[in-house]
Amino acid sequence: MKRFIRLAGMPLFGLLLFTGVASPGLAEEPFSSEQVNLMASACANCHGTDGRLVGSVPTLAGRPAAVLEARLLAFKHNETTDATIMDRIAKGFTDEELAALAGHFAAIDPDEDDAPESEQEPQQ
Ligand code: HEC
Repeated sequence: MKRFIRLAGMPLFGLLLFTGVASPGLAEEPFSSEQVNLMASACANCHGTDGRLVGSVPTLAGRPAAVLEARLLAFKHNETTDATIMDRIAKGFTDEELAALAGHFAAIDPDEDDAPESEQEPQQ
């Protein structure tokens, strides 16, 4: 009980301690790259592999992480008027997972060609 009260009084310290113990090598990253890749695979159907689809579904690759994260959080918390589907999808993830997904897609080079079989549309 005493221990609980102490931790409750220092929630941040307790959290840091716990994270450090749970993943010693990755204390600064809440998710492993495998976890993020798995989550991101749920986006590929619509946004294309690596979020690089060019068309009616917005491109994600290479967009600023802060913009993507803000959009995802807005979808999740019903702060958009233009969502057809993303409001429902975003609700399936925690805010931390959405931040990790935003970082994942922001880090992808939209012009890197590692999918030679895909149709390449000329980009402006
Ligand atoms: C069923 C198809 C579908 C899936 C799956 C999907 N999206 Fe979307 N996404 C859309 C559509 C369509 C839009 C445009 C907004 C809308 O109509 O909801 C969009 C918009 C977005 C936007 C805003 C882009 C902008 O320029 O404003 C972000 C960010 C985004 N999606 C991220 C994701 C992520 C991350 C995932 C995986 C967790 C994902 N989407 C899965 C269809 C999808």
